[in-house]
Amino acid sequence: MEVVSVELTDFRNYEQQTIGFQPGLNLVVGLNGQGKTNLLEAIHALSVMGSHRAGQSAALVRHGQERALVRADGFSRSRPVHLDLEVKRSGGMRMLINKVPLERTRDAGTALATILFSPEDLALTKGGPEERRRFLDQIAVRLRPLAGQQRHEFERVLRQRNGVLKAAHSSATALATLDTWDEQLVRTGAAVVQARLDVLARLRPTAEKRHAEVAGSDRVPGFAYLAGWAPEIPDYESIPGLLEAAIKSSRSKDVERGVTTSGPHRDDLEIMLAGVEARTFASQGEQRSLALSLRLAERDLVAEARGEDPILLLDDVFSELDDTRREKLAELVFSSGQTVATATATAGIPLDAGRVIAVDGGRVTRDA
Ligand SMILES: Nc1ncnc2c1ncn2[C@@H]1O[C@H](COP(=O)(O)OP(=O)(O)OP(=O)(O)O)[C@@H](O)[C@H]1O
Ligand SMILES: [Mg+2]
Repeated sequence: MEVVSVELTDFRNYEQQTIGFQPGLNLVVGLNGQGKTNLLEAIHALSVMGSHRAGQSAALVRHGQERALVRADGFSRSRPVHLDLEVKRSGGMRMLINKVPLERTRDAGTALATILFSPEDLALTKGGPEERRRFLDQIAVRLRPLAGQQRHEFERVLRQRNGVLKAAHSSATALATLDTWDEQLVRTGAAVVQARLDVLARLRPTAEKRHAEVAGSDRVPGFAYLAGWAPEIPDYESIPGLLEAAIKSSRSKDVERGVTTSGPHRDDLEIMLAGVEARTFASQGEQRSLALSLRLAERDLVAEARGEDPILLLDDVFSELDDTRREKLAELVFSSGQTVATATATAGIPLDAGRVIAVDGGRVTRDA
């Protein structure tokens, strides 16, 4: 899968610009604040109908304008594909795939799949558990769209159970419905946990391999699912039972605090490096390499599931890696389909082939 050309209209700091891409590596170069990340964000939006850094889509529309357009021509499974994405300042996005309106946002990645690695991804290793849960949940959806529905259902049940717990403070009858909510929490929660474990089981060997490729193999990473409600999860069949027991035993605490204190919404993906927790002990460069291996592993899973390489978008990765890691990454990138990477300068980036796209103030000044 690849993108051949992208046309931006009033997207972030781009007024009107058409940018051509080549199959292998494309390097977007420019000084700070010129529009490098904006360009990656636009390509990524075609695949996820959202932004990795803007909470609201209105931020994507150029100041003073009402709507932004991203148009792209590319190939998906060797067939030509044309995408039209419209972002309204008033909120919301609309996408046409080959002129046909896309009905469900979650089907956005069907035409074009991208994997974005950005500076924000450092939060995968450095940030709180929520980032890592979201990472696993998002991959689960990419591999099996039904997982998204199951997670929404779990979140809805959780909200309702919390509502009942809060109401219980002033009304004893509210508690009467708690048994039903517990049952539903177990049923929907078990599905969420199973999906995460499934993703992790497939991700782990690939992430370990990718980490060895980028960072060398003397400091081995470890990835483990941490559930506060079960010290160990021996197999999928045991999930509902363990979850049920934990929810039962924390019921009085839950009622007292007015919130569900234990369950899949509190779980974590523990990331270790050389036997110790990476979040606390790994250096910034090591944390970045770990996050990068997780994204590359995601790339591999998506490639396997779709039978073709997704487009790899690398924002500012080369800057914080040391020379050896940079070279390893560059080698890796050459063997993984189309890549669009950004950097403030070509110097120090071990690339002898590839297209260089120079951006300056929302304009492409050189496209060679
Ligand atoms: N909605 C918008 N309308 C107009 N300009 C915007 C909008 N959103 C962001 N910008 C501008 O886009 C510019 C470039 O942003 P971008 O994040 O792409 O820079 P960059 O080239 O990646 O820089 P860096 O090297 O610092 O990461 C910023 O100066 C910002 O002010
Ligand atoms: Mg940037």
